[in-house]
Amino acid sequence: MAPPSRRHLLQIEGMDRPEIGALLDLAESYVLLNRTGKTPRDLLRGRTLINLFFEDSTRTRTSFELAGKRLGADVLNMSVSTSSVNKGETLLDTAATLNAMHCDLLVVRHDQSGAPHLLAQKVEASVVNAGDGTHEHPTQALLDALTIRRRRGRIEGLTVAICGDVMHSRVARSNIHLLLAMGASVRVVGPPTLLPSAVERLGVEVFHDMASGLAGVDVVMMLRLQKERMAKGLVPSAREFFRFFGLDKAKLAAAAPHALVMHPGPMNRGVEIASDVADDPLRSVIREQVEMGVAMRMAVLDRLTRAALANA
Ligand code: CP
Repeated sequence: MAPPSRRHLLQIEGMDRPEIGALLDLAESYVLLNRTGKTPRDLLRGRTLINLFFEDSTRTRTSFELAGKRLGADVLNMSVSTSSVNKGETLLDTAATLNAMHCDLLVVRHDQSGAPHLLAQKVEASVVNAGDGTHEHPTQALLDALTIRRRRGRIEGLTVAICGDVMHSRVARSNIHLLLAMGASVRVVGPPTLLPSAVERLGVEVFHDMASGLAGVDVVMMLRLQKERMAKGLVPSAREFFRFFGLDKAKLAAAAPHALVMHPGPMNRGVEIASDVADDPLRSVIREQVEMGVAMRMAVLDRLTRAALANA
């Protein structure tokens, strides 16, 4: 279990194998409790969770809301688009306002890398990073790891290919740190324009074509082309990108026959993944990732609340 002093979940970088493993074990217990409808609704009773999302979200925001409610918390979704942020209120003033309402858990998504880290220094609540700029999305990597471990029984020794727009992907960065910490081998596959410079220094292998990048891998993790973060001209066209880097059945054939297909969502069908691959029940675990998201976020809220209690 994590040291009780960890009040916040801000990034995967720096987490070690026992800490990640303990979160996976705890989340595993929540998978079963969710399926049987027997979640401990008193665990977060009297606690307040605020979802503070400065960027759009479907999966992360709703799964944190469900996770909080299933553990008995009072959950508020702050609509940034109708908040006083639009009148010029700063991130820190917004956080100080929420802090004054004695919020216990603040789940933050922001387009600026490091925004949740800044908030964590200023508020008394436990802060969870729900995605900051191009930096990290720690709960996504944790739920991905839970999905892989449930399907394969382990993470150590597997080879995972992370494909597409790695440059702009906080999901990729968190997954690289987590998978390497857990003993997997990681490949990144994409055009040079969509891979961070010197990415190999993170400990990954770099490939610029799908046939060699996917050869024999156990997991194929596709990423969305993040046009909202992208300078013009990095990709000639969506059609061209799909031809060379979109996952279709022909390209998937290079992977191991048992290889899992993953995508954090939202998907751009026909851009980074073909519909018949995304919807293939024998290969795709994309819906299962969503289910694991709720269980993993329950585990994170559970752990942070217990750590806050231990430090009180
Ligand atoms: N994977 C993910 O973060 O999805 P949302 O943007 O819908 O939260």
